[in-house]
Amino acid sequence: MLRSCVSLLRTPGVLCVPLGGASPLARDSWPLRSYSSEVAHRDHSLPNPSWSKDMRLIFDQFMKKSEDGSWKRLPSYKFISSKRLEEVKIFFPDSKPVKEEPLSQARLFPRSLEEGLGFEYAMFHNQVENRTVCILQGGPYLQGIPGFLHGGAIATMIDSTVGMCAVLTGGAVMTANLNINFRRPIPLCSVVVINSQLDKIEGRKLFVSCNVQSLDEKTLYSEATSLFVKLDPKKTSP
Ligand SMILES: *[C@@H]1O[C@H](CO)[C@@H](O)[C@H](O)[C@H]1NC(C)=O
Repeated sequence: MLRSCVSLLRTPGVLCVPLGGASPLARDSWPLRSYSSEVAHRDHSLPNPSWSKDMRLIFDQFMKKSEDGSWKRLPSYKFISSKRLEEVKIFFPDSKPVKEEPLSQARLFPRSLEEGLGFEYAMFHNQVENRTVCILQGGPYLQGIPGFLHGGAIATMIDSTVGMCAVLTGGAVMTANLNINFRRPIPLCSVVVINSQLDKIEGRKLFVSCNVQSLDEKTLYSEATSLFVKLDPKKTSP
């Protein structure tokens, strides 16, 4: 089954034409520039050649839902801008300065693996309903038991999705608690949908829950509840 992952058939670093019928949207939003020139600022939540037909299909469905503005695709970058870094420092004024060298290599964990080998995902947010959806294709480097995604890889994407839902409704937050029920293993290279929603807000606490389902919604892979706490510059210490 692993061999069916499109990414494995592809030479790393070589720009390929997307497989399958590319939608007009994908053609517009997937510029044919050289890889090196776009690496720093590339939006990774757009189709790339490693995406399977299923992944493209569900992506196109959510792009269609985004046409009336009820859903919005969330761009996603590997590197955090220096502006964002400065913003974060406000909440951790006493933390020791981190040396420049490792910081220059810092990148977003779910975007740290080569295209197609790790987490391929895109998120969409519905601001009226306070819901965030993540479509995920877990690549071959995320293996746990043979042929299936590692539980920690699933937890990573659940944390990222409920976290995004919390950030977009509550501003600067941090995960305080995450509870996951793993019900069924997720096959490697398959596509799943993480559906999260804000359940309630109590003071600085945000409660967000989610489930992880197959595309046809017939298989429930995982369910999770989480607690996020709004960061307060006066109350937070490292
Ligand atoms: C969405 O979240 C906001 C807080 O950011 C809240 O005021 C609003 O009632 C929520 N909407 C729904 C449908 O839960």
